[in-house]
Amino acid sequence: MDSATETGTDSVASVEDAGLADLSQAAASDDNVAALERWRLEYLGGHGKATLLKRSIGQQPPDQRKAYGMAVQAVAARLDDAYRAELERARQAALARQLESERIDVTLPGRTPAMGLQHPTTRALDAILAAFANLGFQAVEGPEVEWDFFNFQALNIPPDHPARDMWDTLWIDDQALLRTHTSPMQVRTMRQQAPPLRIVIPGRAYRYEQLDATHESQFFQVEGLLVDERSTFADLKGVLTDFARQIFGERRRTRFRCDYFPFVEPGAEMAIDCFVCEGRDPACRVCRGSGWLEILGAGMVHPRVLEYGGYNPSRYRGFAFGMGAERIAMLRYGIEDIRLLYQNDLRLLRQQRVPPALPPQWSRESPP
Ligand code: DAH
Repeated sequence: MDSATETGTDSVASVEDAGLADLSQAAASDDNVAALERWRLEYLGGHGKATLLKRSIGQQPPDQRKAYGMAVQAVAARLDDAYRAELERARQAALARQLESERIDVTLPGRTPAMGLQHPTTRALDAILAAFANLGFQAVEGPEVEWDFFNFQALNIPPDHPARDMWDTLWIDDQALLRTHTSPMQVRTMRQQAPPLRIVIPGRAYRYEQLDATHESQFFQVEGLLVDERSTFADLKGVLTDFARQIFGERRRTRFRCDYFPFVEPGAEMAIDCFVCEGRDPACRVCRGSGWLEILGAGMVHPRVLEYGGYNPSRYRGFAFGMGAERIAMLRYGIEDIRLLYQNDLRLLRQQRVPPALPPQWSRESPP
């Protein structure tokens, strides 16, 4: 009995001594947070030395159990306290090291983030759509891969019609193509919506083109279509003149001349007076001395197109128009070659220039 007690108390004391010694060694090691964890498992874990001591309390002879138990609990508590203190110290030291190594010099100048800029074509499209929104036109979009039917036939251009030569087409097969204009959306929309209709259609179009300063094989157009029971050519002129003044300045005058498009009758081309020289400079770079800039095609919707749209042509009439967004952008921002708009040269965007000759008042109404 006596010897058993001796051994028991001895081993309790030696666990404490060894534990404290190991602990200070772990705390002093380089990777001390990990070493302390290993120490915790070795002494305080489920099979740890202090834990085993606690389990052995029950095996002591009854008369010694109390004293032995108190001694074991006291050792376990001291080891635990010592462990927590070392761990806290190690964590603080690790944090201090990390803060030191990640130190930021807040007095260094920052790096300016690059600002995004809108492409001139995007700005022109936005301006065109906003101008027509002011006139009650809603924007709709449609597919760039189109059927021959909507791109040509439903626009009164049957197969083998010579007018097809007006649009050099990129074919996908004998029925599908890349739309050569946004006009196919006229019939598509009429088939989906009942009259009256007042829509604009922005979007990409494609042509098999010889590229030069004014021709690209892909470009943006904005199409327009108004259908109701009483619109006239005078309405067409009124709407398009108002549009031109919103985009190119209040003083703009417009000129309409006959033109041919199979899907309108009569058809017209609209020009605005040159906003750079106002017709006064025979050497003007922009209008080349003519005084006029052609900006769009238009006309009264052909009865056959209304029919293809499912509208009764003896009851409904309307007008349509189409323009190149890049042409508007080039005129508005003074860009002389359409290819610049597709070369991703950031210098073009950074210029953000508005031609100096544009009239100062951009709003529709000048303040009183
Ligand atoms: N779609 C024609 C083109 O690409 C432009 C056009 C002309 C559209 C007259 C129209 C229009 O709606 O009435 O050349």
